[in-house]
Amino acid sequence: MLQRARQVFLGARAFSSSTRSTDVVVLSEEVRSFVRRCMIAVGTRTDHAESLAELLVVADERGHYSHGLNRLGMYVSDVFSKTTRTDTEPKIVKHTPATAFIDGRNALGPVVGKVCIDTAINKAKSVGVGWVACTNSNHYGIAGWYAIRAADQGLIGMSFTNTSPLTVPTRSREAVLGTNPIAVAAPGKDGDHFVLDMATSTVSIGKVEVNLRKGMAIPSGWGVNSKGVETHKPQAVLSDGGLLPVGGTEISGGYKGYGLATMVEMFCGILAGASYGPHVRKWMGDDDKIANLGQCFVAVNPNMFASGFSDRLADLMTILRNLPPADGETDVMVAGDPERQHLEKVKQLGGIPYHPAVIAALDTLADEQQVARIKSQN
Ligand SMILES: NC(=O)c1ccc[n+]([C@@H]2O[C@H](COP(=O)([O-])OP(=O)(O)OC[C@H]3O[C@@H](n4cnc5c(N)ncnc54)[C@H](O)[C@@H]3O)[C@@H](O)[C@H]2O)c1
Repeated sequence: MLQRARQVFLGARAFSSSTRSTDVVVLSEEVRSFVRRCMIAVGTRTDHAESLAELLVVADERGHYSHGLNRLGMYVSDVFSKTTRTDTEPKIVKHTPATAFIDGRNALGPVVGKVCIDTAINKAKSVGVGWVACTNSNHYGIAGWYAIRAADQGLIGMSFTNTSPLTVPTRSREAVLGTNPIAVAAPGKDGDHFVLDMATSTVSIGKVEVNLRKGMAIPSGWGVNSKGVETHKPQAVLSDGGLLPVGGTEISGGYKGYGLATMVEMFCGILAGASYGPHVRKWMGDDDKIANLGQCFVAVNPNMFASGFSDRLADLMTILRNLPPADGETDVMVAGDPERQHLEKVKQLGGIPYHPAVIAALDTLADEQQVARIKSQN
């Protein structure tokens, strides 16, 4: 189990939002329960297992399969190998009315993240803004979960994390930055949030792996080979190349994604005194090392500025969605719409659709942990 801990065991469908007749539909509550049983089987505290379960189910419901059940094996083996602790709680080290510096004490990422965003939310409600940085954290899943938690309470929420180095800075041949995601969520009207939740690499490493399995070339802008030269061969990226930052190569503005990835690193590893850049443990092969990730969480109360924030945001989103599509295109969307469509599909299906290959991998995990396999609806 530990050997393949960091591998993503996704099927080809894992990143596609289309549903196929062969998909296996699982109730959200069963997904939650499955996460709990697997995590508790390796000694995770029930409340910590619950925090992780909540996050993974939301990732899958939103269609970000790369960060849902797909990653459960990684969390299981991190707890099993004690590279992540479950007998601990995050601790506030320093604070002011608007800021907090938190030591995650190597707890599971979602446990640390929840404490951090709730601290930022409370500060924003009290003084208008809360900025929280934490050290000693772990993989915290989808960055959007934390930002949405603030938006659900009428605030602008932001969340950032550094990650294992996989992204190549513009003009370099070495992957020394993570896929360092950025999430910004804000409340429009009637629960219609703006939710930008994105990696600062063009794609995640999982998408390159999917193309390799399908025997497909990767598009321009995804990755480079060991010489730092753009490649269409997934194997060249995976073996000793790297991902390109958002924007691709220099000619298409990849330096902007590079700048954003560095900014995230500044807010996270640098600000919080955690591991940063090439010092963060590798995605594969460093399984016995502690991650010591840095993360950053911000909440801002829009009522501290011009009144009518949500009305204007809703108006802007309506303008954008109603734009005439370019030739051959479907409807214009705003950030958060693809995930909203996936949530709607989950609702219609009465559960989350998974590729059978994902379920087969989860069955293997369940057997290894000697817990009940995941139950499907079909
Ligand atoms: N914890 C980690 O280590 C880590 C690292 C990287 C990414 N992630 C997570 O992985 C998930 C996937 O990231 P990603 O970059 O692959 O996401 P993505 O490329 O699927 O989407 C990025 C953003 O673009 C928006 N979007 C997509 N299509 C759009 C369109 N046509 N018009 C307008 N907006 C559109 C989405 O709503 C989303 O906000 C995120 O939840 C991210 O937080 C986590």
